[in-house]
Amino acid sequence: MRARVLDRSDGPPALPRDGYGWGSRSPEERTITTARVTVRRFAPGDLDDFLTYQSDPVVRAHLPGEPMSAGAAAGFLARQADLDERQTDAWHAFAVHHPGDDRVIGDVGVWLAADRPGTGDIGFQFAPAYHGQGYAREAMQQFLPYLFETLDLGEVTAGCDSVNRASWGLMRRLGMELMTDDGTVRRYRLRAGTWRDQP
Ligand SMILES: CC(C)(COP(=O)(O)OP(=O)(O)OC[C@H]1O[C@@H](n2cnc3c(N)ncnc32)[C@H](O)[C@@H]1OP(=O)(O)O)[C@@H](O)C(=O)NCCC(=O)NCCS
Repeated sequence: MRARVLDRSDGPPALPRDGYGWGSRSPEERTITTARVTVRRFAPGDLDDFLTYQSDPVVRAHLPGEPMSAGAAAGFLARQADLDERQTDAWHAFAVHHPGDDRVIGDVGVWLAADRPGTGDIGFQFAPAYHGQGYAREAMQQFLPYLFETLDLGEVTAGCDSVNRASWGLMRRLGMELMTDDGTVRRYRLRAGTWRDQP
């Protein structure tokens, strides 16, 4: 079954797929600037913004586990700054910075599993004040080229609660294909070839 292609009518115009500097392995240069957001590695100064949104009940509603404590979050951000981008069995998180508001409004990330080479499981969380405005989609549209072109993944997957319409709505808008839905969890995927064929 062909994946639903990106519907340009319900979002921003297509963004260029190159020219954002993802090729560099230097952490400070791993930055993408789009029309409205910058996707980059976390820095220690992002702690307050990160703590605020990742502990928000709206954000936590469909996420497992408890919010991080301040200490755990500080350790997490420090580890992210030093993480090799191809490290397996690791969560690779990237901050989404809003230049106008000068704050981190959310994050996107990928889990690279050692036993599933060439694939990545993605996730995202954004501060509620920035929901419903296309920021998550815009960030993901710039994160996907990094996954498919720089990390050279062949397939990206994602899962969410079946009732988390905002989450699977985003997956669909990114052109991801529904794999399974058991009524509790939905799983989606996007193959590199399908992504490249999108208009
Ligand atoms: C999942 C999540 C990131 C989705 O965020 P989102 O803001 O709905 O996603 P998008 O950035 O694609 O925004 C799309 C919405 O913005 C609207 N929109 C408004 N202006 C827009 C613009 N300029 N461009 C694109 N979309 C725009 C779209 O119509 C769409 O609204 P709709 O869902 O009512 O149709 C967010 O709900 C979230 O952080 N949830 C909590 C954490 C979570 O559950 N994460 C997933 C765990 S599996």
